[in-house]
Amino acid sequence: MAQPPTETKHLNEGLTTTQAPFIERAQASGQLYIHQPYELYSEENHEAWRRLFARMQERWRKYGNEWFLRGIDSLCLNPDRVPKLQDVNEFLCPLTGFQAKPVSGYVPAFLFFDCLRNREFPTTITIRRSDKLDYLPEPDIFHDIAGHVPMHTDKAFAEALVRFGDCAHTAQELAAGIADEDERAHKLSSIIRAMARFFWFTIEFGLMNSKDGLKVYGSGLLSSYGEIQHCIESPEVQRFPIQLEWVINQGFEIDHYQPLLFYVESFDHLFSLVDQLEKWMREGKLDNVAPGEPVVNEEDLKSFLRA
Ligand SMILES: [Fe+2]
Repeated sequence: MAQPPTETKHLNEGLTTTQAPFIERAQASGQLYIHQPYELYSEENHEAWRRLFARMQERWRKYGNEWFLRGIDSLCLNPDRVPKLQDVNEFLCPLTGFQAKPVSGYVPAFLFFDCLRNREFPTTITIRRSDKLDYLPEPDIFHDIAGHVPMHTDKAFAEALVRFGDCAHTAQELAAGIADEDERAHKLSSIIRAMARFFWFTIEFGLMNSKDGLKVYGSGLLSSYGEIQHCIESPEVQRFPIQLEWVINQGFEIDHYQPLLFYVESFDHLFSLVDQLEKWMREGKLDNVAPGEPVVNEEDLKSFLRA
C-alpha cells in the first residue's frame, strides 16, 4: 500500500509530552535547539491548553503575585490555542530582552544557566495529555509559557535571572582553576547542587511577602492547579523567610507537593541573594553543601567542565 507523503503523515501526529515523534527525531539526531513546528499540534493538544489555561484564571488572580498577573496580561496569550513562541517573544522581548527558545528536552545545567545569562529561556514545546492535566513529572509548554515566561516580563526579576546565569560562569571558572580531578568534581558537584536548590526554592517554588500576605512567584506553583492553593492555604506547609544557608543545604523531592517553602520580600531582595550566592561560591562556602537531592548527574557535571 502506498505511504502518504511525509508532510501529510506528520500533520496529525501531535506534540504530546512523551508521545511526540517530532521530538524523538530531534533527540535521536542530537538536536537540542529546535523550531516549534506549530502545524503538528493536534486538536487534543489545543484542548489541553484551553482547559489548563481556563481553570487557572481564578487561582492566578487569588494567589499569583502582582508582577505575574501583569506579565500574563502583557503576553496576550490566546486562551484557546497552544501559544506560538514567536508571538510570545514579540510581546516579551521589548520588555526585558528575554526570549523563549524552543528545546527538544533536558538541557544540561551549564547550558541552561548560560541561556538565562543570554536572556534566553529554554522552552519545552510539548504539552501534557488533555485527560491527564494534573500530574506530570516533565516540564511542558504550559509550565514553561504560563508558569515561567510571565515572570520574565518583569525587569527586576529578569535581572535576577541573568545574574543567576552569571553564577554558572563563576562556577565554571573556579572549577577550571582546581588541578586535582577528584577535588574538582567534588567541589563542582556541590556548587551545582547548591545552585539547583537555590533555583528550586526561588524560581520554581518561591513565595513573596506582600501587604495582602504571601503570594506565589515560583513557576512550579504558578503552573499547578492544586499546589498553587495548597502552598498558601495548607497548614501542612512550612513557610519561612528565605535564608541562603538553609536553601543551599536543603534537599527537595519532585514527586509530591512541597512541604517547605521560602519567601522573599521583593525581586530586588532576590537579586541580592543571587549576589550573595556568587560571593559565597567564590569564598568556598558552596564546596561542601549537605548531600542529598538533587543528585548531580554526569551530563550536568560535564556541561560545566567542557564549557
Ligand atoms: Fe520550571
